[in-house]
Amino acid sequence: TAADQKEAAGKLVMVTNAEFPPYEYHDNNQIVGIDADIAKAIADKMGVELEIQDMAFDSLIPAVQSGKADFAAAGMTVNEDRKKNVDFTDTYAEAAQVIIVKEGSQIKTPDDLAGKKIGVQTGTTGDIYADDIENADIQRFNKGMEAVMALSQDKIDAVIIDREPAKVFVKENAGLVILDEAFTEEEYAIAVKKDNKELLDKMNGAIKELKESGELKKIVDKYITA
Ligand code: ARG
Repeated sequence: TAADQKEAAGKLVMVTNAEFPPYEYHDNNQIVGIDADIAKAIADKMGVELEIQDMAFDSLIPAVQSGKADFAAAGMTVNEDRKKNVDFTDTYAEAAQVIIVKEGSQIKTPDDLAGKKIGVQTGTTGDIYADDIENADIQRFNKGMEAVMALSQDKIDAVIIDREPAKVFVKENAGLVILDEAFTEEEYAIAVKKDNKELLDKMNGAIKELKESGELKKIVDKYITA
């Protein structure tokens, strides 16, 4: 495949959806963020170049499956369904789906979401979980930020999205708050093509080193201030 040829030539192709600060976002035409830095550190340890391609979130797993990319690093939550299609590295972050509402909203806990209009980013775990909410009207957006804009404009009642991007979006949009009670707890890992054990082992080795040396924490601290 294209990705195999590039890997042989000393290059890894990463795919992501750079609409997800602080994990991946655009800054001066560059894709930056925690995942970009972690991937760069892994590639450095493996002695290969890193190329990052941006695409829709729901195209990431197909790109890895088809061999168009070597891996996807996108604040991607490990779940059983995805494991049928890709292998995951060891996890590198704890995460959660949280609920954003307008200040003063009637929605105070996850239980209040029944029957409400809920915005999510297409194909994310927020989308998957929202499906289980009784009588909810799920509005799907290409970008999490678009869901947040719709909430600001009172087009929807709540947004379900990952905690760290939620914090960024709420900071950028006055009048929004994150509910104290999270919707779910999850973990992020990097998705690799199934049965590419060699790459998976190398990446896990690099992730282990990044954890033990404190480099991983340094990268996270660069983007997330407590
Ligand atoms: N953690 C969620 C999931 O895996 C959302 C990830 C969205 N990531 C992104 N780069 N847009 O479904």
